[in-house]
Amino acid sequence: MKEKRQPVGVEIFNRIADKYDSISGFLSLGIIRRWQRELVKGLEEPGLVLDLACGTGDVGALVQEKAKEVVGLDYSLPMLKVAKRKYPQLFFVRGDALSTPFPDKTFDTVLISLGLRHFEKPKESLEEIRRILKDGGQVRILEVSIPRNPVLKKAFLTFLKRVMLPLGKLRSKADVTRHLYETIVNFPHYEKLIELAREVGFKGGSFRPLMGGMATIYSLNG
Ligand SMILES: C[S@@+](CC[C@H](N)C(=O)[O-])C[C@H]1O[C@@H](n2cnc3c(N)ncnc32)[C@H](O)[C@@H]1O
Repeated sequence: MKEKRQPVGVEIFNRIADKYDSISGFLSLGIIRRWQRELVKGLEEPGLVLDLACGTGDVGALVQEKAKEVVGLDYSLPMLKVAKRKYPQLFFVRGDALSTPFPDKTFDTVLISLGLRHFEKPKESLEEIRRILKDGGQVRILEVSIPRNPVLKKAFLTFLKRVMLPLGKLRSKADVTRHLYETIVNFPHYEKLIELAREVGFKGGSFRPLMGGMATIYSLNG
């Protein structure tokens, strides 16, 4: 793969790849694992599956028994190395979500768990996903979201601003926490994401907030 400027949302994961599973399990008290199971719930015949921004490979592994084949793609080599160690039976490819190496209409199902908000251009990445998805295929996206309930929203944003950002500064991880904060507040949440998907050629979609809107699962129809 031709080397280009490392996206910010990748550099962070290169640094923490070996600790990613324990950090995310510990910080989320295991909730992320539950969200990932929700993401794949009800997928009966997913066919050829792409786990986009697969990280350490857990989401692809959750569907491997039902799928024809699972391919995981990520830009971060250190994350992919962990994934391959954990799941030697799955295929992993290094690539950029904005220009994947796959031909048009390759996949029946594309899953993205906590990856889309790290891609620098969400609309362009949706366009790329639409290109490699078969007509009639499905996309499921799990992403952190901002609760709509005004009380929960205020509490969540206050937590991000008053706890997460200062903690990052204190532990010399200001760039990491700033990136996490900005990707959450700037993400096209809820209807905006469905609208973007329609603009790039998806037939439509729906979304289901989890835990009062701390996270959301989007389903898009190709
Ligand atoms: C929060 S991790 C999620 C990993 C995994 N899907 C999970 O649920 O645990 C985000 C992943 O997105 C990847 N990523 C960020 N930007 C990317 C891009 N442009 N192309 C491919 N992968 C990217 C990072 O390397 C990282 O592994």
